[in-house]
Amino acid sequence: MLERIKYLTEEISNLKADLPGDVEQLRLKYLSKKGLISVLFDEFRNVPAEQKKEMGLLLNHLKNAAQLKIENLKSAFEGNKEANDESADLSLPVDHMAPGTRHPLSIVRNEIIRIFGQIGYTVAEGPEIEDDWHNFSALNFPPEHPARDMQDTFFIARDPEILLRTHTSSVQIRTMETEQPPIRKIFPGRVFRNEAISARAHCIFHQVEGLYVDKNVSFMDLKQTLLYFAREMFGESTEIRLRPSFFPFTEPSGELDVSCNICGGKGCNICKYTGWVEILGCGMVDPAVLDNCGIDSTIYTGFAFGMGIERVTLLKYQVRDLRLFFENDLRFLKQFTGTI
Ligand code: DAH
Repeated sequence: MLERIKYLTEEISNLKADLPGDVEQLRLKYLSKKGLISVLFDEFRNVPAEQKKEMGLLLNHLKNAAQLKIENLKSAFEGNKEANDESADLSLPVDHMAPGTRHPLSIVRNEIIRIFGQIGYTVAEGPEIEDDWHNFSALNFPPEHPARDMQDTFFIARDPEILLRTHTSSVQIRTMETEQPPIRKIFPGRVFRNEAISARAHCIFHQVEGLYVDKNVSFMDLKQTLLYFAREMFGESTEIRLRPSFFPFTEPSGELDVSCNICGGKGCNICKYTGWVEILGCGMVDPAVLDNCGIDSTIYTGFAFGMGIERVTLLKYQVRDLRLFFENDLRFLKQFTGTI
């Protein structure tokens, strides 16, 4: 009897069923009243008293194992019921997943690309890990120049030539090094600065740079281009003003303010009660920068501008804290349903 218990224990652990009906056959074979295991229980009555304990344990173990096995085989088929059920229509369309929404910074970046695309600007990109030449030196920031202090960034300790770009102006240099005018391009991308994170500043943010170099490009072209952009982005009634400023790579340089579209120019806490909000830096490309890139500054002139996408988005959607853009909170992100 001991031999038969061992044999059946082994056999049951290897049981398989190809069809649901097989499982029932197996249950009958082992566990029904006349099944192999029930027969062993009948015989158990005749087992000598001194073997009863050990044999009883083995026999109960066998019965439990068989019940468990049959249950498992049965539920494997139930799990697959739909696949085996020929009445199920497998050609029915599946439930659709809810579509996501674009990130507000992507919506605004795409809108900027669209607006400049309408007046002939194409898009190019450059690397986020830059060298000193493209981020600073070629743009007229000599080593030790105080203008570098305003754009402190993340350097690599082993190699001070390599850094995370502080602005997309580096892509102006990369473009002019490889192309001759006419150049009319915008460069969107991510930039990095060593800044304390607050409602108005972050160590990672996004810019779109613009560059137009050709014969006879003047400040008038710059101003008209920026007016066109501001009205496309913020509405027909938007006004602009240019304030003189300084950037090493443009001469003259300016900063562009747009009339505050939140209070309509009356004054609010977004525009700090001035009615104006700054959105970008700009100017005429310094002749030394053209020469650094192999473009003849006696023949060509150009203008450039660089804007913060976060700043434009804050204004366009009246968002009060820039950190929201990086927190991935769905309650915030679901509110933007732009399609481009
Ligand atoms: N790169 C400047 C910054 O990040 C912005 C800027 C100013 C870009 C003037 C330009 C420009 O192209 O002409 O602060």
